[in-house]
Amino acid sequence: MSIYDLIVIGGGPGGYVAAIRAAQLGMKVACVEGRGALGGTCLNVGCIPSKALLTSSAKYAELAHLSSHGIAVEGASVDLSAMMGRKDKIVGDLTKGIGFLFKKNGVELIEGWASIPADGQVKVGDDVYEAKNILIATGSEPTPLNGIEIDEQDILSSTGAIALDAVPEHLVVVGAGVIGLELGQVWARLGAKVTVVEYLDRVLPGIDGEIAKLAQRALSKRGLKFQLGRALKTIDKTNTGLTLTLDRVGKDKEEVIEADKVLIAVGRRPVTRGLGLEELGIALDPRGFVQVDGSFRTSVPGIYAIGDCIPGPMLAHKAEEDGVACVEMLAGEAGHVDYNTVPGVVYTDPEVASVGLTEEALKETETEYSVGKFAFMANSRARSTGETDGAVKVLADPNGKILGAHICGAHGGDLIAELVLAMTKGATVAEVAATCHAHPAIGEAVKEACLDALGRAIHA
Ligand code: NAI
Repeated sequence: MSIYDLIVIGGGPGGYVAAIRAAQLGMKVACVEGRGALGGTCLNVGCIPSKALLTSSAKYAELAHLSSHGIAVEGASVDLSAMMGRKDKIVGDLTKGIGFLFKKNGVELIEGWASIPADGQVKVGDDVYEAKNILIATGSEPTPLNGIEIDEQDILSSTGAIALDAVPEHLVVVGAGVIGLELGQVWARLGAKVTVVEYLDRVLPGIDGEIAKLAQRALSKRGLKFQLGRALKTIDKTNTGLTLTLDRVGKDKEEVIEADKVLIAVGRRPVTRGLGLEELGIALDPRGFVQVDGSFRTSVPGIYAIGDCIPGPMLAHKAEEDGVACVEMLAGEAGHVDYNTVPGVVYTDPEVASVGLTEEALKETETEYSVGKFAFMANSRARSTGETDGAVKVLADPNGKILGAHICGAHGGDLIAELVLAMTKGATVAEVAATCHAHPAIGEAVKEACLDALGRAIHA
């Protein structure tokens, strides 16, 4: 059997992109995937199917708000199985597309679950493959909670919550993070009562607090109920549904709520078990993440790791950047990922988008900074589309260099790209403000926020 230059374990966005890039660089590459489809969590049960459902549910929800445009819609209804069918087709087409990309680039697909029995070896079923380098790109899985068993029927992870066959009457979402808010909004739009239970006294931990507050307010207006400062303790199955016992955090008090479905979305953990990593002496941190150096090298020579299974934001695009940088370094090139400019987007309505440091982080490190803000209410394009909730917030150092940017608002996920580019290129708020922005456009809010940081916003 021939020796591969690289075997990638995991065919998600980190792994498949790394495999293709390595093949482009002339390596003999195989990628091992066990789930029966390429694309990992993101394409199969994460980013892509959730965005398909977010889009479908948004179209339905919009029908109820067209009267101010002089449009009456009567008798609109949801065919959930057709909606799910559309989602499944999108997923199927995209995952098959990666198979074509593998063929085009000469990446060999090995189907099955891999382990690493020894340095330079990958075992799949009864077969052992030899490789000069091994890349672990095994991703992450939902974190379990208090021994609560996810049955994907009534007690759901995100995987079950994108595959329901009926709209729940009352969905309780545990965790006001990215998954909880996105999928909570899908089902709220389709007619479910949705209550979001969150341990902290705020939503979207990690996002700038002021922007998270705007998001909570906007989502409340759109029907989501929030129960903050509450931790889920137990779930009991009864004849009529589910009974949840919640702890009021810091109050020595319990509360009980009833639901017919519960989505547990309290974070994700790395998939690093069952691969033989401990036996090989590969160092993991206390939370199970593979420890790597700046070149993605694990503690065992010839074995590398990228994406959700190493520390850092658990985001598909970060995993892709990791993967490309890792194999470029393997090929002797200068791979690099700038973790300060990795954007994050929550695809709710309004969207929440963020890059760089939050105001809380700047205060904590006593960094000197200026703030510029601009509310979409004052943007004429947002007024004409009726998307006036939220604001753009930029944080800059005393020289005007952008340290962080945070948006709650329609198209925030697209608008953030301008600020990511500005940060990547070291541009100042003055330089963004001096850039001509089309009128009327939502993006003018970015320019105005930068002007505000200089104390000279025009429309606020
Ligand atoms: P998360 O870490 O974003 O949020 C989990 C929330 O659960 C936190 O607010 C936490 O305080 C809360 N929590 C923890 N234990 C609790 C308890 N016992 N009772 C009540 N609340 C509790 O995790 P999430 O939403 O599960 O997402 C996992 C990962 O997937 C994230 O890292 C995220 O970046 C990624 N993701 C990204 C998406 C995107 O980029 N649009 C979409 C979906 C997921």
